[in-house]
Amino acid sequence: MAEKKVLFEVKNLTKTFQSQGKLLHVINDISLKIYSKEILGLVGESGCGKTVFSRILTSLYQPTSGDILFEGQNLIKAKSKKLRHLRQNIQYIFQDPYASLNPRMMTGEIIAEPLNIHRAVSSKAQKHHVMQLLNHVGLPHDAIFRFPHEFSGGQRQRIGIARALALNPHFIVCDEPTAALDVSIQAQIINLLKALQKKLGLTYLFISHDLALVKYLSTRIVVMYLGKIMEIAPSQNLYQNPLHPYTQALLSSIPTPNPIAEKKRRPIFLKGEVPSSIHLPKGCVFSSRCPKVMPLCKQKTPKLQKIDGDHHIACHLY
Ligand SMILES: Nc1ncnc2c1ncn2[C@@H]1O[C@H](COP(=O)(O)OP(=O)(O)OP(=O)(O)O)[C@@H](O)[C@H]1O
Ligand SMILES: [Mg+2]
Repeated sequence: MAEKKVLFEVKNLTKTFQSQGKLLHVINDISLKIYSKEILGLVGESGCGKTVFSRILTSLYQPTSGDILFEGQNLIKAKSKKLRHLRQNIQYIFQDPYASLNPRMMTGEIIAEPLNIHRAVSSKAQKHHVMQLLNHVGLPHDAIFRFPHEFSGGQRQRIGIARALALNPHFIVCDEPTAALDVSIQAQIINLLKALQKKLGLTYLFISHDLALVKYLSTRIVVMYLGKIMEIAPSQNLYQNPLHPYTQALLSSIPTPNPIAEKKRRPIFLKGEVPSSIHLPKGCVFSSRCPKVMPLCKQKTPKLQKIDGDHHIACHLY
């Protein structure tokens, strides 16, 4: 197999926030690579830092320390002109399509806005480009003269997707893109995202609480806990052979469609609450809730290491 092309390389990324005089350690030394044309799923409990991480990748937040290389160029050190150019290739699809679309703008203007900001195409070519984007996302051409409130939630998310695609990006963050939608509409949007990824050769970071959905869509999956990576593996490996006790607990909560497997399924209930990011637990951040905790886990932080193939895990058990 040909060597995979690295799109993003994240090195020792950290992010802290000041909140009411306290320092929150939200992203804690994350290093990973995102490969071109993959769908990288990102899972973990609410508040573990998924959105903050994705916002750093898309330059919406500055990291506290660390480096991010995008297509070999350092995003943190890039000068504003260069950064502007790089950022055209990095886009974001938001969770709530209603809140993220300007209600006073017509759909055509919303989709064309990034083109205008970046002066990406001539005004003559613009209309044609917007029509093409509407085709891509399955909206009728007359949508350009209508306002966001005239559409259903699913259609609004299609507008958000068309806007994210306007500058022909290479990478898109999908942060819970269907969480605000009706179940019946979710599958349509997911299938649209999947088809676009294939057709346009896109790379996604796909964030979701829905582990079954992440499994369906992702090539590889990252499991995050308290701003740290616990495990990264190809989707199949992770679901068939989860190694980290945290991943095992997360996956044990999803029902399986196979009645025999479902009968055998034993959900693992984690004790206690996720610790506060003001005082991170010493050693492994998961040690305070881990059912397999050992004395070493409370002293030494486990490094993320390769187990086999593309399977990486940060746990002293291995
Ligand atoms: N701008 C900010 N200022 C201070 N704290 C913040 C800020 N943004 C996020 N946080 C904190 O960072 C932590 C991680 O938040 P984040 O939104 O990344 O979680 P998440 O994993 O996306 O959760 P969810 O699954 O609920 O969307 C939370 O404790 C949050 O309160
Ligand atoms: Mg979030």
